[in-house]
Amino acid sequence: MAERFGLLLALALLPSLAVAEISAARQAQLRHMLTHDCGSCHGLRMNGGLGPALTPAKLANREARALAAIILHGVPGTPMPPWRALMSAEEARWLAELMKQNSPNGSPKP
Ligand code: HEC
Repeated sequence: MAERFGLLLALALLPSLAVAEISAARQAQLRHMLTHDCGSCHGLRMNGGLGPALTPAKLANREARALAAIILHGVPGTPMPPWRALMSAEEARWLAELMKQNSPNGSPKP
């Protein structure tokens, strides 16, 4: 029982650890992707276009986990494509956190 709890705890901690493990080079690629690929629909400054605005203000009440799921799986029946072929779950989560904090062209919040 204690062993099982330990495993659950490890699994619960895994996402936050994985987020910290994305290399600086990959983070730069993901930022680039956010501006150029996501930006083509969501606006270069994430202010919206074909897709809705993804600014920190708009995403304030949304869970990063839920946003990451949308990024990975897309929204069927809409132009929002799935991105799981191009990024891992950890990377989608990192992008979701990034979008909640700042726009890719804005300055990061302290
Ligand atoms: C081809 C256009 C297109 C591209 C490219 C695109 N999106 Fe979207 N996205 C959309 C549309 C349209 C919606 C709204 C879907 C709906 O009606 O629910 C959306 C919805 C979303 C949502 C949910 C927003 C909300 O308020 O529920 C997130 C998060 C999101 N996109 C992130 C991304 C990210 C991150 C990328 C790049 C990796 C990306 N999108 C690329 C068109 C696009």
